[in-house]
Amino acid sequence: MHPALNTSLVELLGSRYPIVQTGMGWVAGPKLVSATSNAGAFGIIASATMTYDELVVAIAETKRRTTAPFGVNLRADADDVRQRLELLVREGIPVASFAQAPKKDLIDYLHDHGVKVMPSIGAKRHAEKVMEWGVDAILVQGGEGGGHTGSVPTSLLLPEVVDVVGGRVPVVAAGGYFDGRGLVSALAYGASGIAMGTRFLLTSDSAVPADVKKAYLGTGVTGTVVTTKIDGAPHRVIRTDLVEQMDGASPITAVPKAVFNAAKFRKYTGLSWIQMAREGLAMKKRMDLPWAEVIMAGNTPILTKVTLCDGDLEAGILPTGQVVGVIGDLPTADELVSRIIAEAEATLDRLAGRTPGSSIQES
Ligand SMILES: Cc1cc2nc3c(=O)[nH]c(=O)nc-3n(C[C@H](O)[C@H](O)[C@H](O)COP(=O)(O)O)c2cc1C
Repeated sequence: MHPALNTSLVELLGSRYPIVQTGMGWVAGPKLVSATSNAGAFGIIASATMTYDELVVAIAETKRRTTAPFGVNLRADADDVRQRLELLVREGIPVASFAQAPKKDLIDYLHDHGVKVMPSIGAKRHAEKVMEWGVDAILVQGGEGGGHTGSVPTSLLLPEVVDVVGGRVPVVAAGGYFDGRGLVSALAYGASGIAMGTRFLLTSDSAVPADVKKAYLGTGVTGTVVTTKIDGAPHRVIRTDLVEQMDGASPITAVPKAVFNAAKFRKYTGLSWIQMAREGLAMKKRMDLPWAEVIMAGNTPILTKVTLCDGDLEAGILPTGQVVGVIGDLPTADELVSRIIAEAEATLDRLAGRTPGSSIQES
């Protein structure tokens, strides 16, 4: 391997290459994670959309499929987060990744038991905060990234965060990566590797149904939108009919549209009107959202599952990065990782004015 790819991230994660497959809810299960880790990158199980028991099974299944290291992504605000962290410790999982930074006591608990902590952040001020709390790596997601996302693009957020971190821990660049040139550009900015969600979702190893992958592949770079109308937080998704309807609704029409959608999707969610009202009221109190968003938020997790796992495109919630628009194939995770590394090495040689491949022969 080209020496420039042997970064501090590789050392921290115990992977062969400085590439991370992120913990995508409903997508990053044992098959994808083990295929990624077997390919020499670092796979992360998405546990935020799993029950505790499902996580136990997912870890066991991943271990059956790979002896390479892998991590687990968690919600720091989950009711049973402590129990999940104890499971990680018992199972010898080397890295816990978090959608939002965990509190200091959870970080201390993980450190006391030898587990590394890698939160995702989407703003410079969050980098300053988590550095104070003592994390082991920071995953920086620029605005073009998939799922919940910020507004600053990777090309601006990454150098800002690299400067804040000042080399104290590895910075992992995320949001918009799909090839070896991107990996080299991230290293040039001072990152120690890249993390990809959408690119790994679009591999033959991800369990997303074929029709849904086809819908992703048919989406262009302008076919996504960041909306708060789904669950209150900025969320990048494919601009489906449902999303367009919710996003374009005025304050007057938003509530009837949300009620109409909730009624339409009751066949998937199985929630009774009373249950929906109860959950909605609790959410309204907790998050102070407009009513239309409260009504949709109660349905979103199920609608995302119905779309991503069961392949029902009518449910229409497809989280994605903008990078979806430049992806046109479904390689295996192994083919993808090998291709990115080969491209990165060729790029590094080109920048050094050498014949592609020469640096590998020398090292
Ligand atoms: C379908 C999907 C589900 C996601 N779910 C989660 C999640 O559960 N936890 C999390 O920390 N990030 C989640 N993300 C964000 C990704 O982990 C990752 O940071 C992002 O996809 C990077 O941008 P990219 O898609 O341009 O590679 C999700 C992204 C997608 C596309």
